[in-house]
Amino acid sequence: MRFLGWSYFWYSTGLRRSGMKIISVVGARPNFMKIAPFIRALKARTSGKEDITHLLVHTGQHYDDNMSRVFFQALDISMPDIDLGIGSGTHAEQVGKTMIEFEKVVRARKPDWIVVVGDVNATCACSIVAKKENVKLAHIEAGLRSFDLRMPEEINRMVTDRLSDLLFTTSSYANENLGNEGVCPENIKFVGNIMIDTLEAHRSNAEKIDLRSVLNTAENTGHNFLQEGLEDGKGFAVLTMHRPSNVDQKETLGSLVRFFIDVVAAEMPLVWTLHPRTRNRLEEFGLLPEVERCRGIILLKPVGYLEMLKLNMEAGIVFTDSGGLQEECCIFGTPCVTLRENTERPETLVENGGLSMLAGNKIDKIHDAFSELKDSANRVFRPPLWDGRTAERIVEEMLKRG
Ligand code: UD1
Repeated sequence: MRFLGWSYFWYSTGLRRSGMKIISVVGARPNFMKIAPFIRALKARTSGKEDITHLLVHTGQHYDDNMSRVFFQALDISMPDIDLGIGSGTHAEQVGKTMIEFEKVVRARKPDWIVVVGDVNATCACSIVAKKENVKLAHIEAGLRSFDLRMPEEINRMVTDRLSDLLFTTSSYANENLGNEGVCPENIKFVGNIMIDTLEAHRSNAEKIDLRSVLNTAENTGHNFLQEGLEDGKGFAVLTMHRPSNVDQKETLGSLVRFFIDVVAAEMPLVWTLHPRTRNRLEEFGLLPEVERCRGIILLKPVGYLEMLKLNMEAGIVFTDSGGLQEECCIFGTPCVTLRENTERPETLVENGGLSMLAGNKIDKIHDAFSELKDSANRVFRPPLWDGRTAERIVEEMLKRG
């Protein structure tokens, strides 16, 4: 465990402050954009008359610079006060090690509240510690359900919500799920989507990014093809995928790769931002060389937050298995082929007004969705309270509850 920030002094001297003490937790890439607006909203209140002490703990599940550090810079938040240094491992290893290390922090710091976001292993592990240490727990992005227990995230969501004292939800679907599970309505607070706070705060900076400077970081030569595609106005597609169900089996990943090479990249340039898990599997299954050689594919390392926004806002179509991207596509009006059989974010689906179609990893279905969406008109879809002010509502509610 490494103590990184000013708060080490407070920790080591045993000095105690009055007022509300909050520990918030991040662990993996999708957490950083959810915690940034919360920290900013807390700061805004702390600089007024409220007496709040905040400590940010990073479990260290994601540790590569481009999966972690670059986000703190882009989102303009201070580096975490404490890094638990957990790293990669099996789920039991990650959750177990996180619990052991986080318990030490909670015992030493004695917070009034622990705030967790999303559904990664850090979310679940730190929620269990919070309640075992009898600390109040708030979950931002509560109530999402895919009803698919093969997804590790679904288990994390269910455990976290069952233990939370205050559940901040993004949509009426989430409220309904929690109601069906018997959560007390007083503990559920519909506040909107905190990811959209971050998107709106950074939209203009992302717009200013030069797309070519992002594409120039390509690891292969598909780049030239993209320049041609951009110049003749054909547009381009963006691909991200990292879910074990899509990338961990050779046969599944192999057929997806064939589709992206033979169908998508043959029609329009395809910008593929490669998650470390996916890169490892492509290498292991011997699929990487063909991807690298494909003239229509522009292969990028994981890109920063602003760069991803830029790619999304400029893309003609997105293929993804990420929940966050499905949401961002709605706000940018980018049609989205979702490489999953289900979603915990039904508001993003075309049939509910959104821009995403569920296609799983069966090629026929993906092909159909691609054909249907690629020429569809772009239109923005903004669900209720996805307005950029979610974090303010969260902090307001926490202060009210004390
Ligand atoms: C995790 C989250 C997932 C989220 C995703 C975003 C869980 C259960 N899953 O999945 O919900 O959508 O993050 O990325 O918490 N690796 C690196 N460098 C890193 C981190 C990981 O190389 O900084 C490699 C390692 O080989 C590791 C693999 O990526 O084994 C997978 O990482 P892991 O943290 O286990 O889960 P993700 O697939 O990233």
